[in-house]
Amino acid sequence: MLKKIIIILIILALTGAVVALVHNLKVAYKNKKELAAFKDNLSYRASLGKVLVIYYSWMGHTQAIANQIAALTKADVYRIETAEVFKSSPAFYTRVKKDLLNKNYPELKGSMPDLSSYDTIFVGGPVWWYTMATPLYSFLGQVDFKGKKVVPFSTQGSNSGSFLEDFKTNAKGANLGSYEKFNNVNKKYDTAVNNKIINWLNNL
Ligand SMILES: Cc1cc2nc3c(=O)[nH]c(=O)nc-3n(C[C@H](O)[C@H](O)[C@H](O)COP(=O)(O)O)c2cc1C
Repeated sequence: MLKKIIIILIILALTGAVVALVHNLKVAYKNKKELAAFKDNLSYRASLGKVLVIYYSWMGHTQAIANQIAALTKADVYRIETAEVFKSSPAFYTRVKKDLLNKNYPELKGSMPDLSSYDTIFVGGPVWWYTMATPLYSFLGQVDFKGKKVVPFSTQGSNSGSFLEDFKTNAKGANLGSYEKFNNVNKKYDTAVNNKIINWLNNL
């Protein structure tokens, strides 16, 4: 009996490993194909007026994209920060899932930015459980964009779920510009990602 259970467990573990491997290969192939379109250098030629880039980032991916947007557009930057410092652990993932379900969004640190002087406002953050990261819900709950042009962006492993729809529902008063999403990719794609950003900005 014990032998049978061990064999079943081994088969399950192997099946899981194969499914994960196939998924990762599919994602890598999709990223490679998408970013191949941005391999040639592009020049930035958008005129977006006075720009503010607002972002939340827990692990740095969104921060990297936000900084690239800010460098190109010569923007001011506002970083959304939580009062509690989130520590990395497997339990954090389940906690976030619960918090999203209960609409229990974290308290933020610092004061809200003054948006009045900006023509274009980028707002970005990570995808958590197929929607916006909870600090983005906290932030959007506290601002009214009052008809300003707001351009959302997200970073994610590979699945942005309902990020855009949820952003639209929660961004009060926003006149939405075209959303862009960035999968986490290897550093070798840095130039292609930069070109993808330039292409997006030029078409806003
Ligand atoms: C709690 C949690 C949930 C996540 N859920 C998703 C998801 O649903 N889909 C996805 O593609 N990536 C998901 N990710 C991965 C992040 O979206 C991705 O790594 C993102 O770029 C992280 O941004 P940051 O480095 O700015 O914090 C999740 C990460 C965390 C921490």
